[in-house]
Amino acid sequence: MVVVAAGSGSRLGAGVPKAFVSVGGATLLEHALRRVLGCPAVQLVTVVAPAGHLVAAREAVAAASAPTGVRIVVVSGGVDRRDSVAAGLATVSPDFDVVLVHDAARALAPSSLFASVAAAVRAGHPAVVPGLPVVDTVKEVDDDGVVVSTPDRARLRAIQTPQGFSRAVLERAHAQLGAAVTDDAALVERLGLPVLVVPGDPLAEKVTTPRDLAHAEAALRATSS
Ligand code: CTP
Ligand code: MG
Repeated sequence: MVVVAAGSGSRLGAGVPKAFVSVGGATLLEHALRRVLGCPAVQLVTVVAPAGHLVAAREAVAAASAPTGVRIVVVSGGVDRRDSVAAGLATVSPDFDVVLVHDAARALAPSSLFASVAAAVRAGHPAVVPGLPVVDTVKEVDDDGVVVSTPDRARLRAIQTPQGFSRAVLERAHAQLGAAVTDDAALVERLGLPVLVVPGDPLAEKVTTPRDLAHAEAALRATSS
């Protein structure tokens, strides 16, 4: 399991990397780790943190208190998300044939979501991503802002993490050169392999802006009351 937390959080603008922003008494990274560790299938977690925040990442690991037998490793990330995932993947020993990749920024993704994604990979799907139906009409535009197309909304999904992969497929996907992508599944699509979408969870929505942080806080309050 690779948890990427090495981004700067520029859109959140909190003055510290996003994973170390606190909400409801814990950092986003600690929240994410607690939920990851609540999934019994998880045996190894690699946290990919900003190079200057390895100590803070280890503190979040300690606070999340891993169950006995679960190993947690902390490594530093790269310039973009893809580099950070690759740094995490490099720490996963070849014995593991299923690898999940998760954004720490999706801090409230429930343990059940990790379990359902992992189960679908084990059932034989090489790549599995959670997704929710899209509520807005989505349009593709050209460089001048003129609409090129309007895809049928019923067929669109907003994709989340954790994303699950057969280890061999994820390694092949990452070995491809170039390609600016925003998730690992897109690299698998470029290999021409199928990517299965399973039901996502509103709690797995990403904290990107200050408004998302307020939503996360409200969600935490709602679940603890
Ligand atoms: N991420 C990472 N390494 C990077 C960039 C992103 O590990 N070089 C991680 C982030 O920590 C986050 C996830 O990828 O958990 C999704 O990225 P995003 O939401 O874009 O986070 P940031 O890059 O931190 O935010 P921003 O783009 O606003 O700066
Ligand atoms: Mg980013």
